[in-house]
Amino acid sequence: MLAHIEGALEKREVDFFREAMARAQWEDGASTAGANAGDLKSNQQLPPDSELSRALGKRLLSSLLANPAFVSAAVPLHVYPPLFNRYGVGDHFDPHVDNAIRGDAMTGARIRVDLAATVLLSEPDEYDGGELIVEDVYGSRRFKPPAGDLILYSAGSLHMVTPVTGGLRLASFLWLQSMIRADEARSLVCDLDESIQELAPRVGADDPDLRRLVTVYHNLIRYWGEA
Ligand code: NI
Repeated sequence: MLAHIEGALEKREVDFFREAMARAQWEDGASTAGANAGDLKSNQQLPPDSELSRALGKRLLSSLLANPAFVSAAVPLHVYPPLFNRYGVGDHFDPHVDNAIRGDAMTGARIRVDLAATVLLSEPDEYDGGELIVEDVYGSRRFKPPAGDLILYSAGSLHMVTPVTGGLRLASFLWLQSMIRADEARSLVCDLDESIQELAPRVGADDPDLRRLVTVYHNLIRYWGEA
């Protein structure tokens, strides 16, 4: 699964996060890289258990969970607290897949990592390099979108951040467990949901065919979903 959600965060929200990050203490990003990915990763992050990181993460998450395109594509069940990072000159994250299970040291909660999402907090002209590249079934896709855009991708597909060669790249990212485990099934449900949202204003909520599609949508979630 690979989705690009434009304007997932409003510009004034982006500014809020940037201002908070400008005053923050940073640490080496290796601690969240997992046992095998530590050598592949060079960046800095807000200490994940810090009050600031948790507060910003909570705010980011409430924005995203109010975004219909994000909810439709991800069908989130559990979300790992969002992390905030920065890539300066020379920083990069070489090709890797994310760990399948992620435990939160503070709460003890564990999730199965189905999806990863990156939210850009820098504009593309503020840094050189620093592209997010994700391997898809159709080949690799490169992303360097405007601040506030979100890229959602399967945590199990190979992905990387190319070296930053100038400026500073700020971003947040999160891992989540979806109610629908299989990518193919989740994509079908997402397509159906989008069509229903498009059709509803045209045919009216009491249209019998629309009602049948809505029924199929809910029953597919019932069939595939975990809650
Ligand atoms: Ni990753």
